[in-house]
Amino acid sequence: MTIPKESILLVDDEEAIRCILNKGLALHGYRCDEAEDGEQALAKLKINPSELVILDINMPGKPGSEVLPDITARFPETAVIMASGVTDTKVIAKCIKDGAQDYISKPFRFEQVLQSVNGTLDKRRLALEIQRYFQDTGRGDKQKQVESRKLFMGAMESLVNTLESTDTYTKGHSQAVAKIALTLGQQLSLSSEELEDLRWAALLHDVGKIAIDPDILNKPGELTSSEYRHIMTHAVIGPSLVKPFVNDRVVAIISHHHDHYDGGGYEQHAKGKDIPVGARIVAVADAYQAMTSDRPYRRAMSEMEALEEMLWYSGSQFDPIISNILIKDVQQSGCRRRLKSMGANN
Ligand SMILES: [Fe+2]
Repeated sequence: MTIPKESILLVDDEEAIRCILNKGLALHGYRCDEAEDGEQALAKLKINPSELVILDINMPGKPGSEVLPDITARFPETAVIMASGVTDTKVIAKCIKDGAQDYISKPFRFEQVLQSVNGTLDKRRLALEIQRYFQDTGRGDKQKQVESRKLFMGAMESLVNTLESTDTYTKGHSQAVAKIALTLGQQLSLSSEELEDLRWAALLHDVGKIAIDPDILNKPGELTSSEYRHIMTHAVIGPSLVKPFVNDRVVAIISHHHDHYDGGGYEQHAKGKDIPVGARIVAVADAYQAMTSDRPYRRAMSEMEALEEMLWYSGSQFDPIISNILIKDVQQSGCRRRLKSMGANN
């Protein structure tokens, strides 16, 4: 007997589209239900919360982008794929930020829909398994919770190591970022508590990448805009994964680690000093470590090139004070002599 796959709610005002998707997905073992607008979708989910919703953006009444926050708030275990002919990247980016796992454009190619459905449900299963495992171990008395937290942190560290070990390019990245971040944090006179938060946030800053398609994560060429959006969801998925086990400050650092100092980052709402200091530190440490490491699409930059890049983006992408501390540090730890001799030769 074949075990039926997850249930999918198809939300679209066009009956023909619902019908095609319903028949196609049923052929692949999925149980589908249909709703013609957001209100009907929420009513159906209340009775039978589907594992996945394919949600049209353009519908009469409430658009899918406004229904999405209701779904994610009321049915947090339901994954959502947005569907539409809308090409406005701001609308799509907002949907991803609001919790949608993927986006498919109309007109559909059924293979694309199926690929997105399979991938989204695979990630949903994995994320839920991890969450449930740690929630179970987190129940009980205070002592048990402390032990569970330790267990969780150890497991997360090894998860990060596993994630990075599948890719020679990012091996040891988080450990290295944590080391650089702590050096910067000490020079900024952070308290021991703030340094501890910083260490965990730096170690876990990219943990959300476990939910990212490895083919996209390790793509050797330039990313398309939808691939970039997909990768950037790690800054939303990561915090939700670690939230039950770390304090809000660590969660905030992870959430903001791709924010630009001038507010010009992807779907960014905070800027300047409103970005948590830990996130501004991790951003500098992360970028410097990445620049000086080999990547699938380029060789590692030299220290000198990385410093030039850091200087160029100081004040726009990076906090000028923090990036200057890093620049000074690297110069002091060996680069200064080289810079001087290069200057003398020129
Ligand atoms: Fe990241």
